[in-house]
Amino acid sequence: MSKQYNVAIMGATGAVGEIMRDILEERKFPVKDIKFLASERSKGKKMKYQGRDVEIEVLSPDSFKGVDIVLASAGASVSKEYVKHILDAKALIIDNSSAFRMDDDVPLVVPEVNPEDIRLNKGIIANPNCSTIIMLVPIKPIHDKAKIKRIVVSTYQATSGAGAKGMMELEQQAKDWAAGKEPKVEKFAYQILFNLIPHIDVFYEDGYTKEEMKMVNETRKIMHAPDMQITATTVRVPCLRSHSESVNIETEKKLTAKEVRELLEKAQGVTVQDDIHNKKYPMPLFVSGKDDVYVGRIREDFSIDKGINLWVVGDQLRKGAALNAVQIAEVVAKEGLK
Ligand code: A2P
Repeated sequence: MSKQYNVAIMGATGAVGEIMRDILEERKFPVKDIKFLASERSKGKKMKYQGRDVEIEVLSPDSFKGVDIVLASAGASVSKEYVKHILDAKALIIDNSSAFRMDDDVPLVVPEVNPEDIRLNKGIIANPNCSTIIMLVPIKPIHDKAKIKRIVVSTYQATSGAGAKGMMELEQQAKDWAAGKEPKVEKFAYQILFNLIPHIDVFYEDGYTKEEMKMVNETRKIMHAPDMQITATTVRVPCLRSHSESVNIETEKKLTAKEVRELLEKAQGVTVQDDIHNKKYPMPLFVSGKDDVYVGRIREDFSIDKGINLWVVGDQLRKGAALNAVQIAEVVAKEGLK
């Protein structure tokens, strides 16, 4: 029998943590035993795994004894605080936070792009930022074919990207508005209902946000392309789930829209939905719950010599987070790296 793993989900009750649980079940990851770890707030609560109730444990330094793989999604500060205990317990952490992504000795992995980097891990593997993952799945085959020189990306990011509380805030604002009440603002800087907020994470001195620079720096690291020119504008939109991205690419070799469509139709993890005559293009409402990254509106950019425009939509809780982490764990299991 192939190896079975003791798996812990750190942040199991969160927007991503619950989907990590679902995806382990759906994809039949070889789980011997599962641990659900969360904060004091979840003490005494239970979560289902394969039909049975599993008590949620309050995270502590002792939580990792006997655990082989930790899927972590409780935020960067929690990951930083507990990584020592995870490594001391000889467990592998696949971390969905930004805590270690840019560390030189931590592989940052999208399995469709750089699975070979998983072998370089020293106990920590980082899951990239959700918008970065969603952009790179269709970008990689284009880069392999025509070498990308520059990317200009604008994102339209759903409220669940800010965790379960972000999603709840949009729902509550809609209910308050319908009841004629003033919508309450807590999680986001402004009311998100009927609005767009061009501000995700903190601002740097140069005017970019941390979220925007994650897309720049993480893309270069994952693609092993330190010279790739990337600029991003990241925007929070009043969608519940799935991030959308307008991606403009400049390549070294000329590609036609037809060639890009053909490339993407063959690409792993991509569904092309591009039939404008029948009003077929990806939209967050319909991509939610799907594993693939959806691409449409494939056009040549006639303002430059060798440019392509894409409209890309992915479920950021699945491919942008939980699914990507479980796919990394699958490579670890398949290659016997743990
Ligand atoms: P809890 O539900 O007990 O607060 P989200 O990304 O949706 O906001 O979810 C964050 C996840 O991380 C939740 O499971 C949350 O647990 C967990 N979490 C947050 N802070 C801590 C902490 N200090 N210790 C353990 N788990 C935490």
